[in-house]
Amino acid sequence: MKPVSLIRLGKLERLLFAARLSQRSLGTSASLENMHRLYEGIKDEVPATNGVVTGRIPPWVNGALYRNGPALFQIGVDKYEHLFDGMAAVQKYEVKNGSAVFTRKFINSKSYQKNMAANRIVVSEFGTIAKYPDPCKNIFQRFFSYFTRSDPTDNTSIMVWPLRDRLFASTETHYLHEIDPDSLDTIDKVDLKQHLTINSAIAHVHWDRDGTIHNIGHYYEGHPSYCIFRVPAGSDIKDSKMVATVKSRWKMNPGYYHSFAVTENYYVFIEQPLVINVLKILTAKLRGSKLSECLDFWPDEKVIFHVIDKVTGEHVNKSVVYQSDAFFTFHHINAYEDGDSIVVDMCTYTDAKVIEKVYLKDFSEGKIDETLRNLPMAMLSRYALPLKVTEQTPSNKNLIEISGCDATAVKTTDTTVHCTPDTIYDKGFELPTVNYDLYNGRKYKYSYGFSIQSEKVIALVKVNLATKTSLQWDAPGCFPTEPIFVADPNGPEEDDGVVLSAVCTIDQDPFLLVLDGKTFKEVARARFPGVQINRDLHGFFRPAVQCRT
Ligand SMILES: [Fe+2]
Repeated sequence: MKPVSLIRLGKLERLLFAARLSQRSLGTSASLENMHRLYEGIKDEVPATNGVVTGRIPPWVNGALYRNGPALFQIGVDKYEHLFDGMAAVQKYEVKNGSAVFTRKFINSKSYQKNMAANRIVVSEFGTIAKYPDPCKNIFQRFFSYFTRSDPTDNTSIMVWPLRDRLFASTETHYLHEIDPDSLDTIDKVDLKQHLTINSAIAHVHWDRDGTIHNIGHYYEGHPSYCIFRVPAGSDIKDSKMVATVKSRWKMNPGYYHSFAVTENYYVFIEQPLVINVLKILTAKLRGSKLSECLDFWPDEKVIFHVIDKVTGEHVNKSVVYQSDAFFTFHHINAYEDGDSIVVDMCTYTDAKVIEKVYLKDFSEGKIDETLRNLPMAMLSRYALPLKVTEQTPSNKNLIEISGCDATAVKTTDTTVHCTPDTIYDKGFELPTVNYDLYNGRKYKYSYGFSIQSEKVIALVKVNLATKTSLQWDAPGCFPTEPIFVADPNGPEEDDGVVLSAVCTIDQDPFLLVLDGKTFKEVARARFPGVQINRDLHGFFRPAVQCRT
């Protein structure tokens, strides 16, 4: 564990801190042995529970960290098989006056209700086929729903995000759930298909400072298309407007994507060669395949970068194809305009094998060490797209002139610009976040991420993208979750603030970790004795001042 300044702690806190260090050093080996338990999910909701704070949470950290993720993996004797499959739960860490309160509730989706009523798994998910499927819907209908108007799962288990003072949970179907920000009750289900011509939407929406929501989805009927839509500022989701559609390169193989990026003036999304194989889906019933087995990665195909004007919805430089060699990404980190170029940062893998490597059987006792040791990890990669490319643009010359950036973009034919990345951090970087409210879509320096560096080092990392340097927090037996930056309202610099991360543990109390944004050292933690925190996926922090405005 990285040292914390004891000067800032009171006498009792110093004693507690020393005791905790001692307990940790003694408990390291046991913690690692039991790490597999973190992948068994949780079983219960948790009423509001006060945390025990050591250190000092700055008084301006005042609001709620909301998080979402697959949580309930076992129902009766049945177990979901893939890391992405569990029934969703929203977790809230309310921070106020230096204290923290934890609450958790399951999202009351139809999928959850049906599973609980049957006391077994009756709803198939991404990596699991229900042995006793919902009698109202066979497996064929469930898979085929990705390409038709029939009904997919409504287990909104990936992301939770704000629409002004409201809260929504999302996954990769056309369903959302509205969650009460105070009680975490599920208060409504939204079907985006009632308002837009889409078959699915991604979970990772973007939100602007004025409340505008931006998102992207798929429309499958006929030739598959990618559809960008937005909820205008001050509007409701039912007022969603389509901004642009882009046809898939392949008629029977639309590209899969999990996130996209926005800049001040553009949307940036990629068509990557991890594709949804329509033929495999259509024959899934016969073959007994899971949806996770209906994705193909084509290593010899290119990634194509699409740039769309936010105002007009027009494809920018439509006559030019921005491409790179194949890679796979779940998460865009950020993008921004820099002179005549667009910079796009992503967590990239050389291929999509990581999806096959996160079945829960591989995280069981006796197997988890090897799995964590060999798990493919993403690199923090920067691409740059030159916007001014014309017939007169010279070929075979790097068109990127950004100081300190080693990404290249070379016009290789009259209609092709080939891009290569600048690898900024290569020790594993996932679940990336930034100072979102102030720097999303804008030139920025810092990203915070999660990094499995070995079976023993599971870390949070702060990367300075300008200097390509990093800081790290890790502790034996601790499994941090996605780091969320909370800006100091009186701090002028990008990293003036704290980073919050809920830390799952086995042989000690789980806790909400508070790191100093600049030094990346621990300033406080709020322990929750007797609680098991879910190892969830994504969330955001809502300052209290915005909670009811
Ligand atoms: Fe994600």
